Amino acid sequence: MALQTGMSNLTISDIHSLKKNKALEILAQISRVEKKTFPTNEAFPFGEELWRKKPNTRVLYATRAKGSQSDLIAYAVYVRQKGVALLHKVCVTEANRRQGVGQEVMSYIQQRLRKEGCQYIQLWVDQAREPARALYASGGFEEREVIPDYYAPGRTGIKMILDLGT
Ligand SMILES: CC(C)(COP(=O)(O)OP(=O)(O)OC[C@H]1O[C@@H](n2cnc3c(N)ncnc32)[C@H](O)[C@@H]1OP(=O)(O)O)[C@@H](O)C(=O)NCCC(=O)NCCS
Repeated sequence: MALQTGMSNLTISDIHSLKKNKALEILAQISRVEKKTFPTNEAFPFGEELWRKKPNTRVLYATRAKGSQSDLIAYAVYVRQKGVALLHKVCVTEANRRQGVGQEVMSYIQQRLRKEGCQYIQLWVDQAREPARALYASGGFEEREVIPDYYAPGRTGIKMILDLGT
């Protein structure tokens, strides 16, 4: 399933809708951005196995056509566990931030999960990641739990939940 969004001309797709070679190429691109963006111990492993055998894990990516090429603009990962989706990652490439891409990706995820009958989206965010917290709050997520030293000493984790039924 691919969705062409309005204003920003993004295409949001799922790596599971691709043929193997293309999926692995996208995973490699995502992996490069991930390593640049997050400290090693927080980098999600975007390996080949994600494409092969993880039916509950969804890797979404957003591209924007640029001439004959299409650039990776953003990606997200969530894991479905019955009525709850655990959102592990949302990332917009640095040059494309503050243009509404994060919001588009989040609303795509919400619409898709709601359609699939999911009830809640849950995530953990580092208290110091202000842009991410603001993005989630603007999408209706509520802070439910605060755990000091969740990520590392001195780095607080906040659990946020979005009720898709409301
Ligand atoms: C968090 C992130 C995904 C936001 O993506 P984005 O495309 O820049 O976000 P948007 O342009 O859609 O912004 C949506 C809202 O989020 C908030 N926001 C985004 N960036 C912000 C910033 N730097 N400071 C404050 N608020 C911010 C604002 O409320 C914004 O709405 P507004 O532009 O109307 O004020 C992006 O900054 C990112 O990839 N950061 C690094 C990775 C990360 O921290 N991921 C989350 C943890 S896994």
